[in-house]
Amino acid sequence: MRYINGGCPLSEDEIDAALARQRRNASELGYCMGALVEKATGQVVGVAGMQPLGTTGDLEIGWWLAPRVWGRGYATEAGGAAKSHVFEYLGRKRVVAIIDPPNEPSKRVALRLGLRFERRATGEELGHRLPDIVVDLFGLET
Ligand SMILES: CC(C)(COP(=O)(O)OP(=O)(O)OC[C@H]1O[C@@H](n2cnc3c(N)ncnc32)[C@H](O)[C@@H]1OP(=O)(O)O)[C@@H](O)C(=O)NCCC(=O)NCCS
Repeated sequence: MRYINGGCPLSEDEIDAALARQRRNASELGYCMGALVEKATGQVVGVAGMQPLGTTGDLEIGWWLAPRVWGRGYATEAGGAAKSHVFEYLGRKRVVAIIDPPNEPSKRVALRLGLRFERRATGEELGHRLPDIVVDLFGLET
């Protein structure tokens, strides 16, 4: 959680709110951030998917993995699937990712997927529910 939620683990209430938000996105929009299941073991090893980015109108793709499965390419594989879903299934022309500036491993995932650094932005500028965050915005257009 070092680079997520201002470095603070989510409280039980925040986890409930996050799950409710994703359930709402799944039913109202047809997509969400979801469980990432390792095929070989059937275990949940992370979270990946897509969600609207604040009030920008863009769709954000994201990846969180359990530390024990870092370094295997899973985030790149899942992020690539999310990117394809945004472009090919949802027919969007643009996809973005927001990353805490010091989070180098996550930036490498974004770059491997072809996204490029656009600018540093605050949550407030993006209409994000956390106005105080400062993130690097990566984007890719078809
Ligand atoms: C961000 C995060 C998902 C990156 O994890 P990761 O394991 O580095 O990313 P991937 O799963 O794509 O694996 C890629 C790494 O595995 C290596 N790798 C090994 N086998 C591979 C394969 N078959 N295919 C692709 N990459 C492979 C790559 O070389 C790469 O290492 P490198 O970046 O040092 O060159 C992880 O650090 C994390 O979950 N952090 C906590 C949550 C978080 O910060 N999420 C992002 C919020 S913006």
